[in-house]
Amino acid sequence: MKRKYFYHEHLADYAELKAKGLLSRGELYGNPNDFREFSSKPFLIATLPRLNIKPDAQVLELGCGTGPVACYLAQLGYRVHGIDIIPDAIDKAKAIAAEHRLDIQYKVLDVCQLPRVGEKYELIIDSFARKASLPIQIELRCFQVSRPDLPRMVIL
Ligand SMILES: C[S@@+](CC[C@H](N)C(=O)[O-])C[C@H]1O[C@@H](n2cnc3c(N)ncnc32)[C@H](O)[C@@H]1O
Repeated sequence: MKRKYFYHEHLADYAELKAKGLLSRGELYGNPNDFREFSSKPFLIATLPRLNIKPDAQVLELGCGTGPVACYLAQLGYRVHGIDIIPDAIDKAKAIAAEHRLDIQYKVLDVCQLPRVGEKYELIIDSFARKASLPIQIELRCFQVSRPDLPRMVIL
């Protein structure tokens, strides 16, 4: 089956961001605080405590961009992995994490190519990469009933 991709609209944004030395896509659209006060932060503040996951849980962010969510989670103590299909986004995410001395494992990776064996996550987060993570959402839904050990997923 031919896959439909939705990231092309972001390519130019990340190139512009890189050229201007900005931290996040939001800054291109008039939100100068988008890295520290990103739009999904209030939801995460309200939701994470209810999920009962370990304070040092391994967490995966799908479509992490330059990493505002990943950095926030790492600062809370979670062991964070972040993937994004756009190399410019991951380059920037790595530089920002290094600057803040945060140990985040970033990788250029298509959500559709995510290995189904290997890493184990307690939580998978999708912050505004919704269409990109549809295959994972469907997969988790299908197996969740019979596999309580599967990660919980938060979609913003
Ligand atoms: C709206 S941005 C959100 C970035 C970040 N999660 C945030 O909240 O600031 C959506 C991100 O999903 C990424 N993306 C889109 N399709 C993807 C795919 N198939 N695999 C991995 N990342 C993808 C884009 O490159 C983009 O960085």
